[in-house]
Amino acid sequence: MIVHALAALLQTQVPGLPEHRVANIFKPLASPAQSEYEIAVFVIAITTVIFVVVGGLIVFTIVRFRRRPSDDTRQEPPQVYGSNQIEVAWTVIPILIVFVLIGVTARITAGVQNASPPASTVKVTVIGHQWWWEVVYPDFGLTTANEIHVPASPDGKTATYLTLRSMDVIHSFWVPQLSGKTDLIPNRDNFLWIDPKEAGIYLGNCAEYCGTQHANMLLRVIAHPPGDFEKWMAEQQKPAEQNPQMTEAKAMFESLSCINCHTVKGTPAVGKFGPDLTHLMSRETIGAGVLTNTAENLRNWINDPQVAKPGCYMPSMKLTDQELGQVVSYLESLK
Ligand code: CUA
Repeated sequence: MIVHALAALLQTQVPGLPEHRVANIFKPLASPAQSEYEIAVFVIAITTVIFVVVGGLIVFTIVRFRRRPSDDTRQEPPQVYGSNQIEVAWTVIPILIVFVLIGVTARITAGVQNASPPASTVKVTVIGHQWWWEVVYPDFGLTTANEIHVPASPDGKTATYLTLRSMDVIHSFWVPQLSGKTDLIPNRDNFLWIDPKEAGIYLGNCAEYCGTQHANMLLRVIAHPPGDFEKWMAEQQKPAEQNPQMTEAKAMFESLSCINCHTVKGTPAVGKFGPDLTHLMSRETIGAGVLTNTAENLRNWINDPQVAKPGCYMPSMKLTDQELGQVVSYLESLK
């Protein structure tokens, strides 16, 4: 499984867009991640000083007051009954430090959460499912999956606001270079915003254990350079491609129970349980980032999803070779 996920991470490369595959909170590339990075450094600095002082005193005491061969073992060491000043000091100082940490954390958290939207804002609703992400653009009437396309914001004037929901259990949205984690909770709306400073692909994953395939619930945020996002959106809003050569394959697909779970816009396939497939071929990965979207992987995936993603809710349909071939070629036509 890990091998599959790694392979997917390593193979996928889109020409033109750099891939920010560093899942590293210390390399922030968006405003919320930047604020959180700064507070993380501040907290680590304070706690490092505490660690050095306390650790240093312990080491000093161990060395300075160790038992020596010359010690008289029968004699009791001097008994010290404490010092009020020292005890007050080591009670009050940690309390003050804790309050400073609380204050700074609250200020940064509020700053991130209450930031007012820039003039140009894209709204996206991300819905967690076991084990994939539904991605809805309510203002554009578009539904897609697993790969979240947003405009990059090199000048800080564009942001993407994410409404986070869940269809089943608690998931957590985490793209480390863009922002901290926020949970997706059933019957509740959570919010998050991102403004990627550089165009490129940002990798993330579900960060809350949500069942057997939690580790294969991967996220890709694709930040488009200015102007490019609109092009992508225009492509996505087109109806599914109607290739006359695919009539037979399309009929085959529509005769199978695939259409109970998947939507292909403008066709009888209107299922909602699985990802929308209208523009499947515009995605880089399948199975929520588990496999690169190649003809071979797609064929193996449809033949038996339980191989790449054991326990996922897409069953093997036990298709014959001919049926499988037709389904794959139809899906391949969904550009
Ligand atoms: Cu979804 Cu873990």
